[in-house]
Amino acid sequence: MVNVAVIGVGYWGPNLVRNLVENSLCNDVVVCDVDSAKLEKILRRYPGVRVTTQAEEVFASRDVDAVMISTPPMTHYKLAKRSIEAGKHVFVEKPFTLASAEGEELIDLASRSKRVLMVGHTFEYSPPVRKIREIVRSGELGKIFYVSSTRVNLGLHQKDSSVLWDLAPHDLSMLFYWLDEMPTEVMATGKDFVQPGIPDVAFIFMRFGSGTIAHVQVSWLAPSKLRRTTVVGSAKMLVYDDTQNIEQVKIFDKGVNYRDPNTFGEYQLSYRMGDIVSPRLETYEPLQAEVTDFLESLVNGRRPSATGEDGLRVVRVLEAAERSLSNSGHVEVLPREESLV
Ligand SMILES: NC(=O)c1ccc[n+]([C@@H]2O[C@H](COP(=O)([O-])OP(=O)(O)OC[C@H]3O[C@@H](n4cnc5c(N)ncnc54)[C@H](O)[C@@H]3O)[C@@H](O)[C@H]2O)c1
Repeated sequence: MVNVAVIGVGYWGPNLVRNLVENSLCNDVVVCDVDSAKLEKILRRYPGVRVTTQAEEVFASRDVDAVMISTPPMTHYKLAKRSIEAGKHVFVEKPFTLASAEGEELIDLASRSKRVLMVGHTFEYSPPVRKIREIVRSGELGKIFYVSSTRVNLGLHQKDSSVLWDLAPHDLSMLFYWLDEMPTEVMATGKDFVQPGIPDVAFIFMRFGSGTIAHVQVSWLAPSKLRRTTVVGSAKMLVYDDTQNIEQVKIFDKGVNYRDPNTFGEYQLSYRMGDIVSPRLETYEPLQAEVTDFLESLVNGRRPSATGEDGLRVVRVLEAAERSLSNSGHVEVLPREESLV
């Protein structure tokens, strides 16, 4: 059993607190937020937790084994660094950091201090996303030609981070989790339609060494909520719709066969229109699996599924996308060592 502190209980942090309180691997829960009104709300719901407005109190507390950071992205690096320096294991919400140099430093620090460093890539724990990884890796879709993701809705506009850093970490982390590959080229375009200097619409394009290409569209400026990913392979195609309650994943036995013509004028293409199958998915809360992975990694001394390195991969691509976005969609080539991290 371990004692865990959650720093930051605005919109997302209370979900971490709930999952810790309900988890049998967790003993005491300490909650920290600079806003005491947020702490009062937590105390009304969970009278058994300890609360503080001072993060330093958490770091100094000898009986706190681990810290889960759910504060705004600009605070992640500093709070994670202080946590590791204080000897705590750390979980950092996405995006891991706002600069790859900060992410590298945290990974190095955690490794030297022998502390667990995990990143909150919640989707990697969700049943449809796990099933898609299984399907992609089984070869059922054939060679992956392309992946196209759309994550759009109206709001919530953030005041200190762009839509790229707010929404794209979800799609990028899923993409790298499925493909087990980093892009070699990244291009992006986008615009700050509402708040000057903070892009609210972005389109990211990626090329991978394997030949796969990918596209991620993120926006806070869209009439309806779409969470849809299409994976097209040489054998089959797949659609994942996260807004659906049932049949979130559908595999289409559809494709095009091309044969070299024997005679001039012979029709070269034949389209295949087969069955549509929706695989059975497990039912559990992804966040429960994520919190359990973190706690088990502390108790058993093993690496969690979503590591600091996974967080860094996403940060590197976000940085490249941001450079491209502010440079008229310039193609950013990721150095070889970066594409392999
Ligand atoms: N994994 C997911 O699916 C998911 C979903 C939503 C948000 N998030 C991530 O969670 C993090 C928090 O997002 P949010 O929407 O809850 O933000 P939020 O602004 O609603 O809440 C942040 C909280 O942190 C507190 N805070 C800020 N600085 C602090 C400090 N130095 N010490 C203590 N408390 C501090 C604020 O008072 C606030 O209550 C972000 O990184 C976000 O990207 C992840």
